[in-house]
This record gives sequence, structure tokens and C-alpha cells, in this order.
Amino acid sequence: MKAAILWELNKDLEIRDDVSLTDLQAGEVHVKIVSSGVCHSDVSVQNGTIPSPPPCVLGHEGAGIVQEVGPGVSDVAAGDHVILSFTPACKNCVPCLRGQSYLCASMGPMYVPHFVVDGNPIMGMTGCGTFAEELIVPSSALVKVDHDIPLDIASLIGCGVTTGVGAAINTADIRPGSSVVVFGAGGVGIAAIQGARIAGAAEILAVDLVESKLEMAKRFGATHACTPDAVEQMKTEITAGEGFDYALECIGNPTTIRATYDAARRGGTAVIVGVGRMEQMIEFSAFEFFFADKTLRGSMYGSSNVRTFMPKLCRLWKAGKLDLEGMISRRIQIEEVNEAFTAMKNGEVIRSVIDFA
Ligand code: APR
Ligand code: ZN
Repeated sequence: MKAAILWELNKDLEIRDDVSLTDLQAGEVHVKIVSSGVCHSDVSVQNGTIPSPPPCVLGHEGAGIVQEVGPGVSDVAAGDHVILSFTPACKNCVPCLRGQSYLCASMGPMYVPHFVVDGNPIMGMTGCGTFAEELIVPSSALVKVDHDIPLDIASLIGCGVTTGVGAAINTADIRPGSSVVVFGAGGVGIAAIQGARIAGAAEILAVDLVESKLEMAKRFGATHACTPDAVEQMKTEITAGEGFDYALECIGNPTTIRATYDAARRGGTAVIVGVGRMEQMIEFSAFEFFFADKTLRGSMYGSSNVRTFMPKLCRLWKAGKLDLEGMISRRIQIEEVNEAFTAMKNGEVIRSVIDFA
């Protein structure tokens, strides 16, 4: 079968057609991937921002069909349609029992190499590796979806949509009538803008370096849009200079993380969704936390309990309240994945989706 492999940091992925899988073990599930989104986190693994050492089959935003289940698996069966969850949700560990499956502690079964290339075992990114025609994951990494949800739509829910909408609805808990600013209008940012719209925000400002993204953001619910240099002026215009009730960073850049904190009003909330490099630092004065009384929060997987939140996103899509078709800018074959990375880095697309069907 085909899979796209990162052999070395900062190098193109190699598309191989002779990749196989390990034998199915207890608790594991063999899935045929039908669709996979290309997310900025894939690029971040390629360039070393997110630590996931090569060799590695990239891809973590996918959906497919269960082929076979290993001994002991009872929550999914052959023929089921599933979304891959890039963190497991085991239902048994302390964070899962506490209702925080996005912090699931049962990572061990994810970090088993399941791909075989030239006789050697290879890991999939985050334990998934959706840039492959087939994969094996523990059943804890699968969320079953109804057959009437198209699998290209479902694939986007695997990462960007859950992360962005979840950051707005779960992490920030945006209240109706609020003012919101979202830095970065890529796949995650556009999802956050839609989350803010669904939550009933009165004003939503989208901030992006790329002009074409600003128009796009308005199609998904942004009421205002600007480049980073105009944020102060928009803050004055929209909030009379006070700052936004909620500010969300969907880029992963220390400068925009700092700008996101600054854009929130005193007593407001800043949520950091983007993933920067481990060694990058952000400075705050020791006085300002006290004085500003802001909430500064990280957001892992949109603080989502995937087993309840992903079905909720499917229902929002069915109800016409969440535009996911519009987020698919390009449909590609796996052979075009390196070009899709370039398009993403150039800000040309919201999402490219690999079609394996
Ligand atoms: N200021 C404003 N906008 C910027 C800046 C900047 N300094 N740098 C990049 N952008 C914009 C890009 O033009 C693009 O539209 O941010 C957007 C990022 O979108 P994508 O590349 O589509 O990335 P996405 O998949 O949305 O991921 C965003 O979330 O999950 C994390 O690892 C992921 O850190 C990444 C972030
Ligand atoms: Zn992702």
C-alpha cells in the first residue's frame, strides 16, 4: 500500500507504494483511510517544531472504514465509519474519568510502530499516520460516526475543526454577544471563527498576513478582518479601545501569542491554540498579570471530549451551522502531498484533502 514517509527533518516526504502493516494485536483496529486533511501540524513535524522524530508516516487528520478488529475490541466493528482521534480517549484513565479525554494519559498503545518499510517498523505521526492507505491504531483512537457523514467532511473533524471550534466553544467558552479576535485564518483559525459565530459572538475580527484569507474569513463568519499592523486600530473601532472579550491564537508564533494576550481586554480571556517550538519563549512583565486580571489558557485539541464533541460537530454540519465543504480548498492524491505543504506554507489554502477512495 501507499504511504508518505518523512525520513529526515526539512526534507520532502517520500511516497512509497510498498509499505505494509504489522500483525493486528489485542485492542488494535485495522482501518482503511478514505480521506486525510493536510494540517499545519504535519508541516510542523516536518520542520521539527513539533517533536516527532523521523522516520515517520505523517498525517493525523483522517477518517476511514474499519476493516478488522483485534481481540478484545468491542466498541467498533468491521464496516464502521470512524474518525481518527490524534490523542486517545481511553475512557479509563484519570483525565478521561474526570471528563478531560483531551488529556488522556493512556498514550502507551499509541506509540507503537505499525508501518513496515524495507522490513523495518516505522511510527505514524501521533500514533496515527493518516497519509497512508491503511493503518493500525488502538481502538481508543477511534470515534465512530454515522454513515451519512461523508468521510472527507469527517476527516476535517479529526483535527482542525475539533481544535478550532473546540477552542472557541469549550476552552474559551465564548458567551453570546461577545467580541472576539482570532489570529490566523488557516484551517484551525477558520474553524475557531465558525465556533465563535456558533457561540453567538457579536463581533469577530480575523487577523492574517495573507489578504485573500481575510475575505475568506468573512465568508465563514468574521465580521471584520485585517492584517496584523491594523489590530490596534480595529481594537479601537470594535471595542472602543478596551480590548476583546476573547482572543484566540491559531498560528503558533511567539509574536502573535504575545499580541493575542495584548488584544484581550482586562478581565478577558486569551487562548493559545497554535503550536510553537519548544525553545521559543514569550515575555510578560511580573506586574501585568495582576493588573490585567486576564485568563491565559492553552488549548489542547480544543479541550474536547472527542466522543461527545465530534458527534456534536457532525450534527452542527448536518444542521447547516458549520460549513466544512467550504474549508476544502483542494482535493489531491497522496502523490501531491509535498505540493500541498507548499500551498499551506504560502497561505494559499484552508485545507487540502487527500482522497484515497
Ligand atoms: N500574523 C498573522 N497571520 C499569520 C502569521 C502572522 N505572523 N503567520 C502565519 N499567519 C497565518 C497564515 O497566513 C495562515 O493563514 O496563519 C494561518 C495559519 O494557518 P495554517 O497554515 O492553515 O495552519 P493551521 O492548520 O490552521 O494550524 C494553525 O494550529 O494546530 C496548530 O500546529 C498548528 O500551530 C498550528 C496552528
Ligand atoms: Zn492537526
